Amino acid sequence: MAGLLKLFYDNGMKVFVTYQIPEAGIKKLQEAGHEVVVRQEQALISREELVAALKEYDAILPLLTDKIGAEEIAQAGKQLKVIANYAVGYDNIDAKAAAERGIVVTNTPDVLTDAVADHTITLMTALARRVVEADQFVRDGKFKGWRPMLLLGTGLRDKVLGIVGLGRIGSEVGRRAMTGLGMKVAYSDLQPSAEFEREAEARFYPELDSMLPEVDVVSLHVPLVEATKHLINKERLAAMKETSLLINTARGAVIDEAALVAALKDKVIAGAALDVFENEPDLAAGLKELSNVVLTPHVASATRETRSKMSELAADNIIAVLAGKEAITPVNK
Ligand code: GLV
Ligand code: GLV
Repeated sequence: MAGLLKLFYDNGMKVFVTYQIPEAGIKKLQEAGHEVVVRQEQALISREELVAALKEYDAILPLLTDKIGAEEIAQAGKQLKVIANYAVGYDNIDAKAAAERGIVVTNTPDVLTDAVADHTITLMTALARRVVEADQFVRDGKFKGWRPMLLLGTGLRDKVLGIVGLGRIGSEVGRRAMTGLGMKVAYSDLQPSAEFEREAEARFYPELDSMLPEVDVVSLHVPLVEATKHLINKERLAAMKETSLLINTARGAVIDEAALVAALKDKVIAGAALDVFENEPDLAAGLKELSNVVLTPHVASATRETRSKMSELAADNIIAVLAGKEAITPVNK
């Protein structure tokens, strides 16, 4: 009997990875003795195939594009112990429904904070200095030599950056803006942070609506939940300065994208730089025709280093839970 139990234990468990990810985590899972199936198709997984995996595997490692809602969770088999999302955001998963079934959900915080903060600053400076327009100008053969008034942008020193959501990423963006660019920092969140205020000489606004008219750049760092859907809507865009810039590296639906296109067309705000979109990979009508926007395809965490660390962290979470231990970064304890 003991021998049989040991055999069962040593055999490891079955892990399903819904898409190809960097090898580091896959290797860890295999070294821990688990049987790992990595889906090889180029298309994203279908709902049917995902539900089949929820019925069969002990652990699932999904992408942020794989929707695992209450209906999908309800069809999971009793063997399923952990869903390790390959992202920090986990709005694609109904973590509460999972918890009710005893399924642990984990994410990948910390390992991507620097990459996303770097990309946020990249988008802000690219927008302020019109890098994408300037690049196109050169490629189009329009560069006829230095001119005093060619492609003038906006300086950032002493401008105020308004951070919406002071989590790990929002605070790193604030530090970079203050120490690297000489910006002033404001933030809005449910709770103030005395430490951040000291570090970044930041001003706290308990109300987003009081902060928006006061800042020059608004950068979004909230998760997508019911309360943050369309947080930036027509009214809030109208409350921002006409010269202001909006940056989004969080989730697309935090902005009402159609309202943003209208605001950019009507010069209600000066520009926007977006890494995320409301209906990825589709864009709101008219968005890509605008010159005062910078668009990147949801790549804020896309460095080789970070994507590899995300792979390892997701794997470590699975290994911990399958060994009967606490997950490292659970979101639904
Ligand atoms: C990317 O958007 C993530 O949530 O990790
Ligand atoms: C995400 O990791 C955040 O807390 O900003």
